[in-house]
Amino acid sequence: MAIVGKDILKAKEYLDRSELVAIPTETVYGLAGNCLDVKAITSIFETKSRPYFDPLIAHFSSASQVKRYVKEFPEIAEKLAKKFWPGPLTLILKKKDTIPDIVTSGLDSVAVRVPNHPLTLKLLKKLNYPLAAPSANPFGYVSPTEPFHVQAQLGEMIYYILDGGPCDIGIESTIIGFEQGKVIVHRLGGISLEEIASIAGEVDIKPHSNDKPVAPGMLSSHYAPHTKIEIGNIEELIKKYANVNYGILSFDKKHLNENDKQFVLSEESDINEAAANLFSALRKLDSLNLDVIITELMPEYGLGRAINDRLVRAAAKRE
Ligand code: TXA
Ligand code: MG
Repeated sequence: MAIVGKDILKAKEYLDRSELVAIPTETVYGLAGNCLDVKAITSIFETKSRPYFDPLIAHFSSASQVKRYVKEFPEIAEKLAKKFWPGPLTLILKKKDTIPDIVTSGLDSVAVRVPNHPLTLKLLKKLNYPLAAPSANPFGYVSPTEPFHVQAQLGEMIYYILDGGPCDIGIESTIIGFEQGKVIVHRLGGISLEEIASIAGEVDIKPHSNDKPVAPGMLSSHYAPHTKIEIGNIEELIKKYANVNYGILSFDKKHLNENDKQFVLSEESDINEAAANLFSALRKLDSLNLDVIITELMPEYGLGRAINDRLVRAAAKRE
């Protein structure tokens, strides 16, 4: 079992020795290692059973630290960073050679962000290297938003979980790239499209697919609990699955009188609250030995789009 604690110096000790530490961020918990150290990065991939072609996100204490590791920082990136860092925004930028190729799966760009969590920012300021950190879950599973989620799945494989409480945002960062003067959203996430557009103007959204993934974070099937998920009209799905053991994940309404197998993401219809509760509710439902999880799409505004992206991918048929 990993030790769960708030000791930044202890976390630093492990990281300095090429060991991995789970760190809190405002989005989800990350499985962190020294971004400049190939040994630490290798153990990130091994611990998560993550394929080596899926590049990692590097975490920094500030935009000026980021600039030491990238070749260029376009003006629009500068504007976005000013507005949203520290925060749930990841930028894809041309990397310098100091970032090992294994971090970026051989790409000449690196994904970078400044996370908005006081403990992790304090830790990052004490280190003389950035932290590579994918979400701290086995590859393909639901991301962790509480220390015990990490403990349950990776606790036997790491020494330390830095306890920053439950994650405020609860859904991964928005990933943005820049291609031929265009702003491209690679992954919907904790900063809404509306917010991005308010700074960047029109943006393109990159569709994800199973054919030619740049990275599995963009695969259709991802973020998935073990239990089958079906999205649709909940009342109709209740009829369809009347004879099996089903659970319900709904936006703002209860659909049954009994409580135990249904999770309402936000009784107040607050889309941010729904995002914060999403992964935790999926994990709870997944632990109930259900035949199917019945759910519905959220309204398509704000973080609703990112939630829907995760639900659709969680429901995608796995091969
Ligand atoms: O909120 C988050 O972003 C969390 C916390 C821990 O910071 N991290 C996270 O990392 O979600 P991960 O490994 O689950 O997702 C990383 C994804 C990759 O799957 C890929 O889609 C994208 O980031 N990515 C990384 N480097 C890239 C690159 N050079 N070009 C394009 N996409 C990249
Ligand atoms: Mg992930």
